Amino acid sequence: MNILGIETSCDETAAAVVADGCTVLSSVVYTQIPLHQPYGGVVPEIASRAHIEKIRHVVGTALRQAGVEIDAVAVTYGPGLAPALIVGLNAAKGLAMALGKPLICINHLEAHLHTPFLDEGTDPRDLMPALGLVVSGGHTNWVDMPAYGVYRTIGQTLDDAAGEAFDKAAKLLGLGYPGGPVIDKIAREYAGRDHMRFPKGRPREGVSALAGLPAELCVSFSGLKTALLRHVEQNGGAEKLRADGEIPRVVASYQEAIIGALAERTAKALARKPYKALVVGGGVSLNSGLRAALEKTAERAGVKAMFAKAKYCGDNGAMIAGLAFSRRNLTGEAALRTDVHPSLDVG
Ligand code: KG4
Ligand code: ZN
Repeated sequence: MNILGIETSCDETAAAVVADGCTVLSSVVYTQIPLHQPYGGVVPEIASRAHIEKIRHVVGTALRQAGVEIDAVAVTYGPGLAPALIVGLNAAKGLAMALGKPLICINHLEAHLHTPFLDEGTDPRDLMPALGLVVSGGHTNWVDMPAYGVYRTIGQTLDDAAGEAFDKAAKLLGLGYPGGPVIDKIAREYAGRDHMRFPKGRPREGVSALAGLPAELCVSFSGLKTALLRHVEQNGGAEKLRADGEIPRVVASYQEAIIGALAERTAKALARKPYKALVVGGGVSLNSGLRAALEKTAERAGVKAMFAKAKYCGDNGAMIAGLAFSRRNLTGEAALRTDVHPSLDVG
């Protein structure tokens, strides 16, 4: 079964054709990052207009490169930016109607948890139950996956997402957008030298109770962000830190705090159930320090750690088309009436 997947939830216009859930026949990603760079973050209206401009070309190229007939059209309907989601959803509806094929609406967060299985040759069902960890620009969720295609959030960030914490720090320090890749690189070059202490992101009990989740599986990055801001202010500003050659130490320590927080909560979550695998997805899962820390965490818990190939870590259409294979029975006429859900949750 060949499924076309379309993704426009944020700043990537993407489409892919995937056979039987895991074999990627084509994957085209047009990234808008240069358009948003001057603003230090994604501007929804610019994103929407760029999706409109590129969607035909991106979908056409994915179909041409795959060179097969498709059996269904899958699309992200949330979470994400409403003006961006609308472009992909409407394109997918039009295409599904024109081709007389079913439409499958997919949750973007759940799709990130499918990425480690793309082009991998592993049947996801053999690795269940699994613990999922989505770490992206907008989300940080620990997800219980009792069976393949079944998702329940058991922990999350109570404020900023991990990617947001990287991006905001980079903005404050004048390192550009997005912040994750540049901070990752600086931290890698700084490895092995002395670090300073930043808060490890442990939230207060009461706050996590409000979200109905246990504190030990929740994280908060707002204190970390404030600690960085205070450090910068107390040391004469970002320019002064740069002139003093202090940026690498600050950045590496800041990244270490984020990774420490994520690894610690992951270890707690793995201890709660006899999981077979730790499945990690989202843009931040590209971070080399995080990968190493989570590998170690998984090894200690006796589970297999699974990460996506680099090209599937950021937003892409293959994860949408891939997950859609397990959703064949949720398709059809009703899907054509689906609206976008900007704040859709896991499960
Ligand atoms: O999954 P993604 O492409 O988009 C969302 O759905 O949000 O994730 C984008 C996020 C950005 O915040 C970016 O800074 C972060 O992923 N990121 C990284 C790395 N590469 C991208 N964070 C840490 N280390 C990296 N190497
Ligand atoms: Zn994403």
